[in-house]
Amino acid sequence: MDKFVIQGGKKLKGKVVISGSKNAALALMPATLLASGRYHFRNIPELRDVITMGKLLQMMGVDVERNGHELQMNTFRVNKFEAPYEQVKKMRASIYVLGPLIARYSYAKVSLPGGCAWGPRPVNLHIEGIRKLGAHIDIEEGYIIAKAKRLKAAKIHFDVSSVGATGNIMMAAVLAKGTTRITNAAMEPEIVALGNFLVKMGARIGGIGTAKLEIEGVDQLHPADETMIPDRIEAGTFLVAAAITGGTVTIEHCEPSHLTSILSKLKEAGATLQIGDTWVTISMPKSIKPVNVTTEIYPGFPTDMQAQWLSLMSIAKGSATITDSIYYDRFKHVPELTRLGANIVLNKNSAIVHGVKKLTGAKVMSTDLRASASLVLSGLVAEGKTEVLRVYHLDRGYEAIEKKLLALGAKIKRVSGQEF
Ligand code: EPZ
Repeated sequence: MDKFVIQGGKKLKGKVVISGSKNAALALMPATLLASGRYHFRNIPELRDVITMGKLLQMMGVDVERNGHELQMNTFRVNKFEAPYEQVKKMRASIYVLGPLIARYSYAKVSLPGGCAWGPRPVNLHIEGIRKLGAHIDIEEGYIIAKAKRLKAAKIHFDVSSVGATGNIMMAAVLAKGTTRITNAAMEPEIVALGNFLVKMGARIGGIGTAKLEIEGVDQLHPADETMIPDRIEAGTFLVAAAITGGTVTIEHCEPSHLTSILSKLKEAGATLQIGDTWVTISMPKSIKPVNVTTEIYPGFPTDMQAQWLSLMSIAKGSATITDSIYYDRFKHVPELTRLGANIVLNKNSAIVHGVKKLTGAKVMSTDLRASASLVLSGLVAEGKTEVLRVYHLDRGYEAIEKKLLALGAKIKRVSGQEF
């Protein structure tokens, strides 16, 4: 297992190119199961999770060929409609194959995803939605077994706004008989990207980007090519990296309109921002103002940026409260940040952070993707050496993060191999 060794104290300076969106790629790749043929994706990020999704689809007979940031897929020979536990347990997004499989092949056997580092992550909305579309679903030995001659349109309301459930049900409904109406649908850019891609494939979807989707089922779809949108969470992470080190950084190939909640909070914290159509330049004065954050569904402040914001606030001039209204227990990074000298008090799904003058380097353990990012960010500013262990968590969702940080002047290196 690899670790990062970071010497803190360097202000980040320069430009960084943002990669394609992990969560868009993880939704669009399984959508190819909906129509046989060849697909060409561009701006695909080189990430472990993308490889994991590719391996899952290959198990079903999909030809998957990655070449740098391009992905060629061929779904002519899909002949297996199962997602086994051994593969699904590696990545929760594997559940995205459920909707396309039941819609196109009338059968799906998909392992229930386990929890994740920060607790249970139910899939009841996925299952109930597919059931409402007329599938017969059994849960047997940890597997969702769905059967349906042809799905029938339905009215589906999500009690909780869910990115994954919206994606899954959208992919199921596009081939259902009749017009499906979804209310309280997720509006995240990755779901908008999925909706736009399905329309390119011949689907008829109204209301994309709103919480009300109207999907008129068609008999058949056809392959299409797509370029991934930029990863808004990687972009937000690098903006915070610049802010926490008091540097000046330009993030390029990003989509500023996906970053409004993050940019406004950074401005409140004292950052100076210049915003172009595909770039943002941020510069941060030495002292960081404390800013409260409550995570919300899009376009609110993303839960995937909660840990990174907590790191920034740990050296602010004053106290801030960070509440996660999406995942109440997504705070595994707090004990690790405390090891670096942060002063954080947890109270249910809120972290009260009392800014300290400085953080001090230490060995810290990654537990999940965004928690690991928060540890790296804190290591960039902590005095002395910080070792972030088990960085395979980071490799799931950040393409070559240490190379990008190195190019911005950070003193960071990856140490491979030993058991940490
Ligand atoms: C997606 O996960 C993202 N993953 C997550 O990003 C992100 O944190 C999350 O959305 C919230 O924005 C991908 O897109 C691959 P949800 P997802 O269904 O779809 C509850 C990262 O760091 N819920 O929107 O699994 C759930 O418990 C990852 O890139 C149900 O109750 O999240 C949560 O409280 C981590 N029942 C809320 O909805 C369900 O059936 C939002 O979850 C489904 C969800």
